Amino acid sequence: MVAITYVEHDGTEHVVEVDEQMSLMEGATLNMVPGVEGMCGGICSCATCHCYIREEWRDKMPAMSDGESTMLENAIDRRANSRLGCQISVTPEMDGMRVELPQEQA
Ligand code: FES
Repeated sequence: MVAITYVEHDGTEHVVEVDEQMSLMEGATLNMVPGVEGMCGGICSCATCHCYIREEWRDKMPAMSDGESTMLENAIDRRANSRLGCQISVTPEMDGMRVELPQEQA
């Protein structure tokens, strides 16, 4: 299990244990974290799993696919550190990571 802290836009934190190989989106939705819907089930077609990854964790992230980048173009308040949580599989190297959630998904 990997400890992930999801941080809502207002600073509310949710620390959850996520199984390795699950996605950041699945880790949030299965633990009822507000602000992550995952409406498409993780097939990269809704952007309701939009999240922000801090600089210090970016080298632990998989490369962004063209499909993820295209879908993020539809996300509100896209930033340089935007990712789709369904496209990131949790690995042991992510233990302790903080994932920030955008206001529009509150
Ligand atoms: S859950 Fe739909 S794009 Fe991630």
